[in-house]
Amino acid sequence: MAEDAVLAFLQTNEQIVNSGDFADEQGFSHEETVNAIKSLRGTKHVDTQDIKKESWLLTDEGKTYAANGSPEFQLFTAIPPEGISRADLQKKLGDSVFKIGSQQAIKNKWVEVGKTQVSRKVEHVDDNVKSMLLKIDEGEVLKQEDIDALKRRKLISLQIWKGFSVKKGPNYAPKRKKPATDLTRENLSGDWKNLEFKEYNFTAKGAPVEGGHLHTLLKVKQQFQTIFRQMGFEEMPTNNYAESSFWNFDALFQPQQHPARDSHDTFFLREPSTTRTLPEDYVARVKLIHESGGYGSRGYGYDWKREEANKNLLRTHTTAVSSRMLYALAKKPFEPKKYYSIDRVFRNEAVDRTHLAEFHQVEGLICDRGLTLGDLQGVLHDFFSRLGMSKLRFKPAYNPYTEPSMEIFGYHEGFKKWVEVGNSGMFRPEMLLPMGLPEDVRVIAWGLSLERPTMILYGIDNIRDLFGHKVDLGLIKTNGICRIGLE
Ligand code: PHE
Repeated sequence: MAEDAVLAFLQTNEQIVNSGDFADEQGFSHEETVNAIKSLRGTKHVDTQDIKKESWLLTDEGKTYAANGSPEFQLFTAIPPEGISRADLQKKLGDSVFKIGSQQAIKNKWVEVGKTQVSRKVEHVDDNVKSMLLKIDEGEVLKQEDIDALKRRKLISLQIWKGFSVKKGPNYAPKRKKPATDLTRENLSGDWKNLEFKEYNFTAKGAPVEGGHLHTLLKVKQQFQTIFRQMGFEEMPTNNYAESSFWNFDALFQPQQHPARDSHDTFFLREPSTTRTLPEDYVARVKLIHESGGYGSRGYGYDWKREEANKNLLRTHTTAVSSRMLYALAKKPFEPKKYYSIDRVFRNEAVDRTHLAEFHQVEGLICDRGLTLGDLQGVLHDFFSRLGMSKLRFKPAYNPYTEPSMEIFGYHEGFKKWVEVGNSGMFRPEMLLPMGLPEDVRVIAWGLSLERPTMILYGIDNIRDLFGHKVDLGLIKTNGICRIGLE
């Protein structure tokens, strides 16, 4: 072992002058010797000093010229005393030797190259380039200007050799004890006193964890949760995928003939197909506001049917939960609230690269007296800048339950373009007043999908790679813990 050889050598010698020579003498490779020296240096068994030697090596091109002569010399010797045509000469030498050779030979004033003929200008030439290359190959030192000339022609390249001179270090011993990495029961009964322990390597990478990885969506969900909590929001209970049409649609002032309430868009439940209980006095007020309005609204002017409201479905948005929460809030003396939810919703959609029949919504709402659209925009700026999007734009939109409504666009610094990031609005008085909330209470709210930002953040372009049975478990293990705020 090179390690033992180094320590043994230092026992009788002052120093190893050069690790390269030492390796040769002892029959080790220099690499192995250097590794042993570095390791011994780590435990202070030896001290080292760097040795750096620069030497010139022939490049592949340089090697061919050292063997066959420089192109200019080859060209010169290929020209007979009476001269030769360019075409014949080129054929004789090949394109590359002809091209480089004639350039250099003209520069050296060895030859004259006319339009068609090439002739010698001198009788005899020496191939200096070849002899310089041979000298370099022998390890001779050349004049700087010769080195420069060969370097410029890329015939030689600099090689840097690194090695060490080595002396005993403070912990020197003729043999290194293998340091213990563990304290065993046997050690405790006596020999622990004589053990040398391996030092901790605090920069070592830990072994990869084999279990307990969060799904990519859950990682982003956690980030959203942290942001909501930092902003003082409480989580709404979203543990009911099954919901009645009443809470999912009617309470949100969504008329019963709205296309979203069609089975083409919504999954209705077969068993149990209808809800058992609804708050009757509130249902009566919702019926009234749909049919003939109230509180300053004209309503929709249609015949509202209880059977439609009773139909059970898989909730199409988490706003169904928001409507339940606001109703519960209206039953008590009013208190301002900030609520959020992140959970699954279902829509009867054609599945493609960006759509599945189920996905997750992130929803936030604030209710307080006298809130304005400016408050909504301010909260959205706060929220999205915590996600790394500080430039926002708003576009008027329509939701049955909000007025005004705004689509939210954020400037994506990575893509250098505006991307749609969510939907928002102020809940309508037609929704809030029948619940019994005080008249001056306003509710501002917004929603977005969890999948879209996750796909953007993790560079996933097919939703089926993110969610469902085709997801690669390896990716779940290796995807970064957090991407939000990284640009
Ligand atoms: N429920 C809306 C949707 O499904 C999102 C939204 C929530 C819009 C709250 C406005 C206010 O897209």
